Amino acid sequence: MTQFNLILLGPPGAGKGTQASRIVEEYGVPHISTGDMLRAAVKNQTEMGIEAKKFMDAGALVPDSVVIGIVKERLQEPDTAKGFLLDGFPRTIPQAEALDEALAALDRGVTKVIALLVEEDELILRLSGRRICRACQAPFHVEFNKPAKEGVCDVCGGELYQRDDDNETTVRNRLEVYRTQTEPLISYYDAQGLVSRVSGTGNTPDGVYTQIREALGPAGE
Ligand code: AP5
Ligand code: MG
Ligand code: ZN
Repeated sequence: MTQFNLILLGPPGAGKGTQASRIVEEYGVPHISTGDMLRAAVKNQTEMGIEAKKFMDAGALVPDSVVIGIVKERLQEPDTAKGFLLDGFPRTIPQAEALDEALAALDRGVTKVIALLVEEDELILRLSGRRICRACQAPFHVEFNKPAKEGVCDVCGGELYQRDDDNETTVRNRLEVYRTQTEPLISYYDAQGLVSRVSGTGNTPDGVYTQIREALGPAGE
């Protein structure tokens, strides 16, 4: 059985969440977004959530030990047998090394890294107009990806809201953190021959997805 052990890598606002829903539907793998998991912990006011919120509101990274722990636990779940789609993890070299080790222990490895590339001016426009569904996390945009009914999720009818970290100051910090800490992962995975670069601009979400499918190949049975 072909495994799809996938990583979706890219700056804040590149469209990782937007593309993830398409990928998981076609390839039948679970969507593992550390951002979504951390926001759920914040909402439930768990000890970890309260601690993580400070970093997230500043646009900084939550400490590696915390995020690595969450992902390792999640990868033990039986629904990852055919593969998984990691969105927003790894984000640092130590996270990538921890992932490689954890997968090796399960006799597995990353099979493909999709690097979704978008220029900074466009990222700022996207994040400042983004709205997210409170219930299912689906992302929309007030101009580029409008829901059929304002303020309401097309997928599940949930209420749309603006993320706390989508304000200009925090967005600039998130972009800086991406450049310094996350972008080097492209070279890390290039060295393993795993990266497919996909342009996330000048195209509709469906147009971008067509290129991702080409990079991933057929979904199989
Ligand atoms: P996370 O939730 O992962 O946020 P992010 O990486 O900043 O990425 P976003 O979710 O903002 O963007 P996206 O690429 O998903 O874009 P989207 O599809 O929504 O992380 C949040 C925080 O959690 C971090 O800052 C950190 O504190 C913490 N954290 C998470 N993981 C961590 C880790 N591993 N280690 C440490 N800390 C961690 O699209 C954006 C907008 O653009 C939408 O409005 C969408 O409608 C629109 N759009 C999408 N595609 C297109 C298109 N083709 N054309 C026009 N508009 C489009
Ligand atoms: Mg996202
Ligand atoms: Zn929804």
